[in-house]
Amino acid sequence: MKRTEIKELLKGEKTGESVCVKGWVRTKRGSKNVAFVALNDGTCIHNIQVVVDAQKFDEDTLKRITTGASISVVGDLIESQGSGQKVEVAAGDIEILGEADPDNYPLQPKKHSMEFLREIAHLRFRTNTFSAVFRIRHALSFAVHEFFHKKGFNSLHTPIITGSDAEGAGEMFKVTNFDLKNVPLTEDGGVDYSKDFFESETNLTVSGQLEAELGALALSKVYTFGPTFRTENSNTSRHLAEFWMIEPEVAFADLNDNMDLAQEFLRYTINYILEHCQDDLQFLDKRFADIESKKPKNERSGSGLIEKMEFVLQNDFKRVTYTEAIDILKNSKPNKKKKFQYVIEEWGADLQSEHERYLVEKHFKCPVIIYDYPANIKAFYMRQNDDDKTVAAMDVLFPGIGEIIGGSQREERLDVLKKKMTDFNIPEDEMSWYLDTRRFGTVPHSGFGLGFERLMLFVTGMSNIRDVIAFPRTPGNARF
Ligand code: 4AD
Ligand code: MG
Repeated sequence: MKRTEIKELLKGEKTGESVCVKGWVRTKRGSKNVAFVALNDGTCIHNIQVVVDAQKFDEDTLKRITTGASISVVGDLIESQGSGQKVEVAAGDIEILGEADPDNYPLQPKKHSMEFLREIAHLRFRTNTFSAVFRIRHALSFAVHEFFHKKGFNSLHTPIITGSDAEGAGEMFKVTNFDLKNVPLTEDGGVDYSKDFFESETNLTVSGQLEAELGALALSKVYTFGPTFRTENSNTSRHLAEFWMIEPEVAFADLNDNMDLAQEFLRYTINYILEHCQDDLQFLDKRFADIESKKPKNERSGSGLIEKMEFVLQNDFKRVTYTEAIDILKNSKPNKKKKFQYVIEEWGADLQSEHERYLVEKHFKCPVIIYDYPANIKAFYMRQNDDDKTVAAMDVLFPGIGEIIGGSQREERLDVLKKKMTDFNIPEDEMSWYLDTRRFGTVPHSGFGLGFERLMLFVTGMSNIRDVIAFPRTPGNARF
């Protein structure tokens, strides 16, 4: 008999029919005469109840139905007599597909800590929380592609192995096929990369932007959505060594167009989740409220998960220059009382996440876009403003997250860009392909990068970035 997914069965349209359901046992309870099995197959957050009349089955079969076991059940879908569910399956036939070794199965029907579940990331999909998170991750990824597709962008797969450091932060994983015990050296003792696989020094990409720019300067509108890698040694709840980034790049667009696009894009994807993932969101909303209620009052965010998402849809993002932001921070209470770990002394200071969160959560109480940053704290490709001090950069800051998007208008003037590269010690010859777009038919253009997992944090209410990617890579951890 053909299997019907639990999501389908729960609609109730098949009530009265004989059905086949397959899944993993979440719990089994009941008496000597009847057992109630909560079965989940991951197609939705809800379980279906399977009612097992003990007299119809041998003791051995009943014993093997334990938490974590996979079973196949054929029976009638009937209206449930108990409360809590509309329909249930009255088991006629049960096949045990895979036993779960009850003495060793790590996921018992009780609350497990997130830390423990990270240790068993290969099994954590089987919890309500993680199955909801990963269904939402799929929907969010789909929404990203749908948004750009509808707007006429072309998806561009930029390379994962590159020779450049787009962000200039030097946080790159090396790519080589050298025998590390016997690396060829040049006469002056350096590594002889001409003997390496690519005959040059290569690394895993930190951003697809530079290549996306090349595409935009012919196709007008492109976006990348791929993995990026950084050896950033920050063991925080918002950093990964491997994360997914979405990077649109648009020709004939300035910084204002860029800010408009960022706001429209974030709203579209958040709204998509509100419209398409209600069951999972309801579950995560409750979870979020439960965790918040256990925090000390001054650490609570003050609004629910769904409420926060709706707030973003209804309120324009506040746009302020870096200079205005610094003034606000300088005069803020935590700065005056030296409560910030990094006290803001003067214009030019890099904003830390404590400052970003103060601006968003305490001062403006809405998403904020900060733009026109000092040139020397931003990357080489950002367009120089007329004041010669700042560049047309923008960061979008979100409540509870801090920086969710970083972007800029790009320096399209060949002479200015060349000077910038000299100042930043970037060898021109290695980047001649990038400079060619400024040599031949250059145009103003802009783009940004959204950290996909940061947006996932926002729409799931999860508090650690390790819990919104299936198998997180962080300093000291590349298991699974
Ligand atoms: O601000 P970033 O470094 O900007 C760029 O890479 C540009 N090339 C983007 C562009 O203009 N096309 O990174 C962009 C975003 C950040 O705002 C943040 O959301 C995310 O990527 N991000 C990280 N997410 C998780 N773990 C990390 N280590 C991250 N580093 C950046
Ligand atoms: Mg940034």
